[in-house]
Amino acid sequence: MKLPRYVKMVEVGPRDGLQNEATPVPTEVKIELIERLADAGLPVIEATSFVSPKWVPQMADNAAVMAGIRRRPGVSYPVLTPNMKGLEAALEAGVAEIAVFGAASESFSQRNINCSIAESLERFTPIMDAARQHDLRVRGYVSCVLGCPYEGEIAPAAVAQVAARLYDMGCYEISLGDTIGVGTPEKARAMVQAVAEHVPIAKLAAHFHDTYGQALANLYAVLQLGVAVVDSSVAGLGGCPYARGASGNVASEDVLYLLNGLGVETGVDLPKLAAAGRFIAEYLNRPTGSKVSRALFG
Ligand code: HMG
Ligand code: MG
Repeated sequence: MKLPRYVKMVEVGPRDGLQNEATPVPTEVKIELIERLADAGLPVIEATSFVSPKWVPQMADNAAVMAGIRRRPGVSYPVLTPNMKGLEAALEAGVAEIAVFGAASESFSQRNINCSIAESLERFTPIMDAARQHDLRVRGYVSCVLGCPYEGEIAPAAVAQVAARLYDMGCYEISLGDTIGVGTPEKARAMVQAVAEHVPIAKLAAHFHDTYGQALANLYAVLQLGVAVVDSSVAGLGGCPYARGASGNVASEDVLYLLNGLGVETGVDLPKLAAAGRFIAEYLNRPTGSKVSRALFG
């Protein structure tokens, strides 16, 4: 069995998690969450998104979040930018890393970013040019890699095609999103294998939501293929507002417990991470979505 020695944990809770809260979370709570996550040793914390506040009001305080956090050396704070307007606002906020997000499903692309897959890729071209000019790193997302809320099954070849385009455009890493958490391990493996024919496996990230409780099993399957970047959300926060019923990402605490058990290094401290999860779950007044945290703290 081949497992990576080190896995880069990408924390997406402050963005993917909090974008889905019915009542927007105050900026100072978001900032404190991000600080606690950085204290726990996470190397990447997706901080917010520069999307239309009409579409996602929960992220309307993006500039205030970026201004309020203490940016630590060695930690990246990527933000989502769907278009040039988002990119310009992100530049004004002084970001060093952005993410563009496309989909392997036409219907999801329309619902999420109001354009076709081809149009989205065209929209990303000037973003990539501007990013190059300003020395920004760009991450690329592909949504619906293991199923779509509107179209059902998605062919691995469709995922590979969009992933390859994003990589060829200059994205340094491609995050493969099981947006609605419907995948199972063999499907996840087949999808990653199809993508890895076009994008080096070291450049792939697994971004699995846990709607059907399969995310850890799916992660274990793709770790064995050599995937060494895992997106997760503290306390299992989140979901996508344009994928009804999709629950949060796999909980960061649970991913860390798995990786610790496998002897894979991450540099992340479990007690501190779990404390960050408890902080946000208590603020939201709801039980944590992390089984590990429940087991550790009741
Ligand atoms: P649109 O309505 O087609 O855009 O939306 P538009 O250009 O016609 O603009 C409409 C209005 O929004 C205008 O304002 C623009 O100025 C404004 P008005 O003139 O009506 O007053 N606007 C903006 N304002 C601030 N920042 C911007 C921006 N852009 C336009 N960047 C658009 C197209 C892409 C903007 C919209 O569809 C959008 O914002 N979508 C984002 C949806 C989103 O955030 N979804 C969740 C994140 S993706 C996700 O969760 C999946 C992921 O986790 C992976 C996975 O799990 O699969 C990444
Ligand atoms: Mg997501």
